Amino acid sequence: MEINLRGQTAIVTGSSTGLGRACAMGLAREGMNVVINYHSSEEEANDAVREIEDLGGKAIAVQADVSREEEVGRLFKACLDAFGHLDVLVANAGLQADAAFTEMTLEQWNKVMSVDLTGQFLACREAARIFKKQGVHAHGRSAGKIICMSSVHDVIPWAGHVNYATAKGGVKLFMKSLAQELAADKIRVNSIAPGAIRTDINRDAWETDKALDELLTLIPYGRIGEPEDVANICIFLASDASDYMTGATVYVDGGMTLYPGFRHGG
Ligand code: NAI
Ligand code: BGC
Repeated sequence: MEINLRGQTAIVTGSSTGLGRACAMGLAREGMNVVINYHSSEEEANDAVREIEDLGGKAIAVQADVSREEEVGRLFKACLDAFGHLDVLVANAGLQADAAFTEMTLEQWNKVMSVDLTGQFLACREAARIFKKQGVHAHGRSAGKIICMSSVHDVIPWAGHVNYATAKGGVKLFMKSLAQELAADKIRVNSIAPGAIRTDINRDAWETDKALDELLTLIPYGRIGEPEDVANICIFLASDASDYMTGATVYVDGGMTLYPGFRHGG
């Protein structure tokens, strides 16, 4: 299998930390130019840029809130100004604002919807516009690739996280509808749906031995995921090795979606 991404350009939203950062690093190691988008952590974003430059790659850091239309426009313009073209969008930025349903404020609901769902809409729309204009070109077989960061919670209901599961459930059909609409333009759209991966977003679930033991009862494969587990799939979906895939959700979850409670029952 050949992964030929050299010279292509990617924007990864929310990539100063966690899964976004691992995806950005993975794509840079494959020779891609990378735009590191960050919301507030400028220092970490600059650090990611330096890490890519140390590998001999090219990267820039661009501040933008993915839930704000004009900032997303500025992000994509900065990419075209720096690199002249765009080949891959990883719509990764996301957050949780957890609460029991009866305690959930409208602010918590709106925050998650605006970043985890509207943020994907704004970034994907900008990418699709650019891909359509560029068409299929020397860089590969498609006009562009979009990778949405979904979650196992696009199919697993999640009490105490209703806003988050609703947003990720939305990402699932958003991605599929987009894939259907854009296929004729040779734009591929797929999702990665990670299970529990060790990042800041779920620190509570792995930081203590007790929490980790509890988490592992939900993971048949017997270990927590690492950001590189997700980055490897991101590289595959970004490359022509997955050229016949569009509208797919790839679960990277150690079996979390396999109803582990049924191992010994039912
Ligand atoms: P993280 O908290 O390290 O990363 C989230 C990133 O999004 C941060 O860099 C944050 O600054 C950025 N972000 C938040 N709001 C933003 C905004 N308005 N504009 C731009 N950037 C913004 O956590 P992690 O785990 O790396 O999360 C990345 C994505 O992966 C999220 O969409 C999350 O829902 C998804 N995910 C994570 C899983 C996990 O177990 N870690 C599992 C399934 C999905
Ligand atoms: C959440 C994490 C959680 C994982 C598995 C992700 O979407 O952001 O907090 O650990 O799903 O439940």
